[in-house]
Amino acid sequence: MNERFEQVRRSFPHTKKIVYFNTAAFSPMSTPIKEAIDANFELRMAAEVDDTRQMYELRERVRSGYARLIGAETRQVGVSINTSFGLDLASYGLPLKEGDEILLSDIEFPATIYAWRGAAENRKLKITYVKSKDRKFDIQELENAITDRSRVLSISFVQFFNGFKNDLKRLSEICRKHNLFFVVDGIQGAGAEPINVKELDIDIFASGCQKWLLAPFGSGFFYISDKVKDRLTSHNITWYSSDWEFQFSDLFKFNLPYFDTAEKFQGGYYATLNLLGMEAAQKIILDLGIDDIQMHNHRLIDTIVKTLKESEYYKFTSSLKPGERSSILTIACDKLKDLHRFLFSQKIHAACREGSVRIAVHLFNNESDIDRLLEALSEFEKLNSRNLAGKTN
Ligand SMILES: Cc1ncc(COP(=O)(O)O)c(C=O)c1O
Repeated sequence: MNERFEQVRRSFPHTKKIVYFNTAAFSPMSTPIKEAIDANFELRMAAEVDDTRQMYELRERVRSGYARLIGAETRQVGVSINTSFGLDLASYGLPLKEGDEILLSDIEFPATIYAWRGAAENRKLKITYVKSKDRKFDIQELENAITDRSRVLSISFVQFFNGFKNDLKRLSEICRKHNLFFVVDGIQGAGAEPINVKELDIDIFASGCQKWLLAPFGSGFFYISDKVKDRLTSHNITWYSSDWEFQFSDLFKFNLPYFDTAEKFQGGYYATLNLLGMEAAQKIILDLGIDDIQMHNHRLIDTIVKTLKESEYYKFTSSLKPGERSSILTIACDKLKDLHRFLFSQKIHAACREGSVRIAVHLFNNESDIDRLLEALSEFEKLNSRNLAGKTN
């Protein structure tokens, strides 16, 4: 394993005890995050600081880091608390009229579904579910579903349950051709798979940071393209949508101009402790580099694939094609729930999702984690075959 990755692994204390393949649910915390938060917490307990300005500057740095990660400008990125926050900016903010149609995948994570469901109820929009094929979003079905009332395509970068990476380039072209707003939930890809939101002409990109971005729960960010920025309705305007320039001694200013950046939409005062965690987590990702992270994750997945390729017992349920694969590998077999429990008993954490065990491989995993997983899978197969044989006797 590359020494840079091994060094990062050492900053994740769980790796001494647990083989963690559940980053697609949430990331374990690392020591740089704890240290950043602890240091500030001590100052706050002592009431010795007013670090309002430093925290504002910290938020700027965090915005700038996420912007760098997704190929955007800092002014286009705001920090938030989760994915849904950014999706809500789209579902309530985009200029839509009664009867406008929103195109969603029928195998989408509920964050996108519920964001649009609520907005559809309030704004009298129509939701159309695009039929998937073989558990993948189907581009032909999308084209069939588009009508002259279609206004939005809202979809995940990477599907949560099988790691299928949507062809955002192709989807973007279709959106432009049919004049659809293009909204992307990025949480299952951001931090593990490279993306360039400007090149992809995405209108709104939303992500939580508690998974592949390694930050505490309650951390997120969003991107708003220049094209839609001034067309969003201002349903979530707060006093912090304007620049007070740290002049908090004179607050009876009710007509300050709004920020002309994504800051306008960030909401009120922010979770400063989380911002410290986000910055420390972001540093890990940016220092390693997103291309190297993806390569590292895919290489470890390749080892699993090579070993299990011929297996009669385990079947891969995620795509292994170059443009479709991600840092999630899903595996199905008999007695899936028993397998999940067995792995847990071996201190191997994974998730059970939609008929498969989901193995999410990230930058702190190494070859020894993969070996332990493969040993456990082999052991489970033997145990299960013995049980099956026992039953037929
Ligand atoms: C694709 C996807 N979107 C969103 C979420 C979470 O949404 P939020 O960050 O708003 O809680 C998850 C998982 O928790 C997910 O897998």
